[in-house]
Amino acid sequence: MEKIQAAITAVGGYLPEDVLSNKDLEKLVDTNDEWILSRTGIKERRILKDPTKATSDMAAEAVKEILRKKNLDPKEIDLIIVGTVTPDMSFPSTANIVADKVGAINSFSFDISAACSGFLYALVTGQRFIESGAYKKVIVVGADKMSSIVDYTDRSTCIIFGDGAGAVLLESTTEKVGIMDSILKSDGSGREYLHLKAGGSLKPASIDTINNKEHFIYQDGKHVFKFAVTNMADVSYEIMQRNNLKADDIDWLVPHQANLRIISATADRMNLPMDKVMVNIEKYGNTTAGTLPLCLWDWEKQLKKGDNIVLSAFGGGFTWGSVYLKWAY
Ligand SMILES: CC(C)(COP(=O)(O)OP(=O)(O)OC[C@H]1O[C@@H](n2cnc3c(N)ncnc32)[C@H](O)[C@@H]1OP(=O)(O)O)[C@@H](O)C(=O)NCCC(=O)NCCS
Repeated sequence: MEKIQAAITAVGGYLPEDVLSNKDLEKLVDTNDEWILSRTGIKERRILKDPTKATSDMAAEAVKEILRKKNLDPKEIDLIIVGTVTPDMSFPSTANIVADKVGAINSFSFDISAACSGFLYALVTGQRFIESGAYKKVIVVGADKMSSIVDYTDRSTCIIFGDGAGAVLLESTTEKVGIMDSILKSDGSGREYLHLKAGGSLKPASIDTINNKEHFIYQDGKHVFKFAVTNMADVSYEIMQRNNLKADDIDWLVPHQANLRIISATADRMNLPMDKVMVNIEKYGNTTAGTLPLCLWDWEKQLKKGDNIVLSAFGGGFTWGSVYLKWAY
């Protein structure tokens, strides 16, 4: 019997209209455009300003683009998985809400919490549901409204993050395209360096947690940088080795957009020139689970069937990993 592979067959994306530039941030905190650009590669990011809108609204727009492009009836969707750390609410899952908003009344749905690796974890989870033969159409989303957990008086974090959502459709194929291999890793001891202190069962919301600003991202940037630069490069190299891929065999690296210096170090380790690396961090900043599908969305027209693509991410947890896929259209 021919092996069923899971392949990405469409991409959708959504970015809020409002732009927060480095110059705008100069008015909020003691920083400057030159520092932000040289230390991170970011020029501007998008912010979902409408207080009535949440992560699910951006995710639903990305999914609706896929439905339009593929002329797909939402009733045909079997499963929606959303990678996010900024769910609309603790429960129900954002994926439940997205399914409702797009009319996917026959799908089941759940969230995956893996911070900046959320899309990668969700993609591999979706792949397994397709490969098992149980489901035919799985939507995988990476979406975060980071502005809802960013302290705009903290210059060490507010310069980095932005809002956005990307989505892909996974379908089965018996051609030799689609997701070929994956490596996923996590190390919960890394929580010390990147986390949200309050609002969970350990420290429920209280007057104190609000006064102490514990509902915002805490990051020890230097420490996270060290882990990210080593682990994202290592795992990307590992997936190349495991699949006998030389730098010349790889058409595109799709790296998590956390810091241009981390992206360059990963490309160096893989011996890839930067013109094979998708970089849009200057426009959107770090949209957490959104970065990988938003890269695919921005580059979709340049991709060709059979292209060898490596996706790599590193994020809070720590979580990290790589996926090797052959583009299917
Ligand atoms: C956050 C990050 C950009 C900070 O860059 P950095 O080069 O490590 O900067 P440092 O924290 O060492 O700070 C260097 C100096 O710049 C200052 N600085 C920090 N933020 C600044 C800002 N926004 N504007 C201006 N100066 C700033 C610091 O106070 C420090 O000054 P000092 O030398 O006088 O003490 C970087 O550490 C990073 O990208 N970390 C990883 C983020 C990441 O990958 N997250 C993963 C999850 S997605």
